[in-house]
Amino acid sequence: MTHPSIVILTGAGISAESGLGTFRDEGGLWAQHRIEDVATPEGFARNPSLVVEFYNTRRAQAHDAVPNAGHTALARLQREHKGEVLLVTQNVDGLHEKAGSTDVVHMHGALNSALCSTCDHRWAAPLEMQVGEACPNCAAPTARPDIVWFGEMPYHMDRIEAALMQADIFVAIGTSGNVYPAAGFVQMARHVGAHTVEMNLDPSETVALFEDTRPGKASITVPAWVDDILDS
Ligand code: OAD
Repeated sequence: MTHPSIVILTGAGISAESGLGTFRDEGGLWAQHRIEDVATPEGFARNPSLVVEFYNTRRAQAHDAVPNAGHTALARLQREHKGEVLLVTQNVDGLHEKAGSTDVVHMHGALNSALCSTCDHRWAAPLEMQVGEACPNCAAPTARPDIVWFGEMPYHMDRIEAALMQADIFVAIGTSGNVYPAAGFVQMARHVGAHTVEMNLDPSETVALFEDTRPGKASITVPAWVDDILDS
């Protein structure tokens, strides 16, 4: 295949070596916070201060974090590969962009974005969001972090599914395969005959669905895989 179409899905594991904690590894974010409290619309309605504070902390960490060799290699692949490359991330940290990626599909939202729950307007989030901040478009005091919470529909699904239907190669990096619909992308890719590759520290929940598994740290496995693709 000369210029394969590639769809890449990244998760928290690709940012682990940049010092950002994952969700489900030992001591991860979901061991320290209850999902119901900080990552659901109901939690936000109950205690908006707690939720805004949780994402303010994460925004500050992401702001200070530096991309690692895994992010940089994917940006290089996007620049140098002659076929299509769609980079889809579940991460909200912005490290792909800091590494030089330009077209990143943020299916779970982004920390640097604020969303109005009244009119759906989006704007650049300040480093420290406040509860009840006014929307610059409709003035309603209903700003929220632009994060897809449990029970909400991930963003850009049409674009992602269209790319998966055309994919020759599907790669999942640093994701545990617990959260759908992202965890189901490998099935869609297999359905159209794409070659499937997993790069993860530990085997994911869906490891059996991947033809090629490359265990290890993303900072090592991802640059090596990108070299393979660009040299082939
Ligand atoms: P998880 O925390 O569930 O999984 C992270 C995965 O990364 C694990 O399988 C680890 O083995 C792997 N990992 C850890 N360090 C690594 C490294 N250095 N190199 C490679 N892999 C490494 O994170 P996600 O799968 O991204 O959603 O979680 C998916 C979604 O669940 C998140 O987007 C978030 C969360 O709830 C929302 O908040 C909506």
